[in-house]
Amino acid sequence: MIPTGKEKKRFVRDKFASVSRRYDFLNGLLSFYIDHYWRWVTTREFDEFKQGPILDLCAGTMPLSAEIVRQIERPVVAVDFCYEMLRHGELQWKNGSKKAKYIVPICGDGECLPLHDLKFQGITIAFGIRNLSRPEQGLREMLRVLKTGGKLAILEFSRPKNRFFSPIYKFYLHKLLPFMAGTISRDKEAYRYLADSIQGFYEPEILAAMMKDVGFREVRHRPLTMGIVTLYTGRN
Ligand SMILES: C[S@@+](CC[C@H](N)C(=O)[O-])C[C@H]1O[C@@H](n2cnc3c(N)ncnc32)[C@H](O)[C@@H]1O
Repeated sequence: MIPTGKEKKRFVRDKFASVSRRYDFLNGLLSFYIDHYWRWVTTREFDEFKQGPILDLCAGTMPLSAEIVRQIERPVVAVDFCYEMLRHGELQWKNGSKKAKYIVPICGDGECLPLHDLKFQGITIAFGIRNLSRPEQGLREMLRVLKTGGKLAILEFSRPKNRFFSPIYKFYLHKLLPFMAGTISRDKEAYRYLADSIQGFYEPEILAAMMKDVGFREVRHRPLTMGIVTLYTGRN
């Protein structure tokens, strides 16, 4: 069972610290490298902004921050509360590279951001909101630091609805993935948590309603790759 409140925070931070070294490798392998496409689509949401920094929340090893730099050359503030994830991401950059120049990693809590109000034109959170112990509080913080007219893009796992694909996906998520990833990362619990947290997360309509309740405007969501993930957008 997934812990709640402060216990969930500690649990999540420990689990990501434990898999941080192999996180990127496993992410690619387990998603058959489709995760690159998902981050590419998410970054396209910020095409309209020609200047100003983007906030990448729950940035982990910063793969989405890197995609933002690669695709639209915006400076990125990358926040995560797991130091090891940020550190392993940073270790992959070359000195003086574009990533090192454009990305500022900050170790901080997404539910209590160490950032000023109305600071960012764009905010993104990929596979992070499901991991917050209080997603609604996280959304409130995102709205607080988002400029008026600015855009939030959330990328998160969802559950495919297709009646033929859904059982195959469930078998993969609950049986194959924890076995493969657990063996490679040597932390089976972390990947059992991944499966359980996807299974227990809100339906897309509920998360979209939560975004509206918190105060986001123009909230939309669309499934990607048969609904394995959903991309949500909203504005301040
Ligand atoms: C699945 S990883 C996603 C990493 C990255 N965004 C990506 O696209 O692969 C989720 C990240 O959320 C972070 N996280 C979870 N709860 C957090 C919180 N309250 N504040 C900041 N980071 C948090 C974890 O440390 C972890 O690095």
